[in-house]
Amino acid sequence: MRKKVTVIGAGNVGATLAHRIVDKQLADVVVIDILEGVPQGKGLDLLQAGPIEGYDVKIKGTNDYQDTANSDLVVMTAGFPRKPGMSRDDLLKANFEVVKSAVEQAAKSSPDAILIVVTNPLDAMVQTAYRVSGFPKNRVIGMAGILDSARYRTFIAEALNVSVQDVHGLVLGGHGDTMVPVPSYTTVAGVPISQLMPKEQLDKIIDRTRKGGGEIVALLKTGSAYYAPSAAVVQMIDAIFNDRKKILPCAAYLEGEYGIKGLFVGVPVKLGAKGIEQIVEIKLTPEEQAALAKSAAAVKELVEIIAV
Ligand code: NAI
Ligand code: 2OP
Repeated sequence: MRKKVTVIGAGNVGATLAHRIVDKQLADVVVIDILEGVPQGKGLDLLQAGPIEGYDVKIKGTNDYQDTANSDLVVMTAGFPRKPGMSRDDLLKANFEVVKSAVEQAAKSSPDAILIVVTNPLDAMVQTAYRVSGFPKNRVIGMAGILDSARYRTFIAEALNVSVQDVHGLVLGGHGDTMVPVPSYTTVAGVPISQLMPKEQLDKIIDRTRKGGGEIVALLKTGSAYYAPSAAVVQMIDAIFNDRKKILPCAAYLEGEYGIKGLFVGVPVKLGAKGIEQIVEIKLTPEEQAALAKSAAAVKELVEIIAV
């Protein structure tokens, strides 16, 4: 039987994600939003692309959680973007309410699902989803590290004029200014980055990576990135549904790994049919380890505001 994915939020990330899932025929998709008509309209439009694109999967837009029942996987993309005059804390509180109410309903309808959270501020929202759903930690995963690593890899490939497929690199930590690109595990076709690029040039790339989301917001003016974010979620879904055991940077609930306890922070994990099947502990340099601790402290500050 085909898998079923619920996408909560029919906005830029949610709708683009639904498009990517049906295009790859990964699952039937239900898109749910509070806006009446929008998920239904986008769902119908995507369904009608099927005869042209050649996919048979079902897509339905809805405002009713009953339609999401027994999903294998739920992706939480609903939330408000930051508006002028709104502080980070205001956004945190507003999206906390959205995640709380949506995840409560989705978890009730699909108690065995794997939950991927995209809504920002990512690390605090995935922690919220974990608490509200009551799901085990292997079934609650935050998407950010794959996106941040993709930006890092893109900038390195551009600078060296090499195929992006040859560039491997990890970005760990929280999804914010304190994220931690990891030079010691950055390679191009197996060659350490330190042999290919001066430190000053890599430092500039690291800085641009940290500001990667903001760079796109500044260009778009009316929203944030969604093509690369939705591609990152699809990579996670593909790893889970095909039990690939892929090692990917994701926000995972840590219980002492990397010296971090009781928090979701971006680390390398093994993704397979059970969700997070292993937290992969890699040896970091003292500077990288210190940067990860600093990033975790920033995540903790946000989590404490909403007390989850
Ligand atoms: P968007 O504004 O285009 O879409 C958000 C959708 O959520 C809207 O259609 C809205 O009606 C819906 N919504 C609001 N409250 C809802 C509720 N209670 N139940 C169901 N739907 C509800 O925003 P976009 O661009 O799709 O981004 C969504 C979220 O993802 C934002 O918080 C954004 O910051 C975050 N994001 C996170 C990334 C990451 O790396 N973790 C990357 C890109 C976006
Ligand atoms: C990004 O990094 C907005 O978190 C989003 O593009």
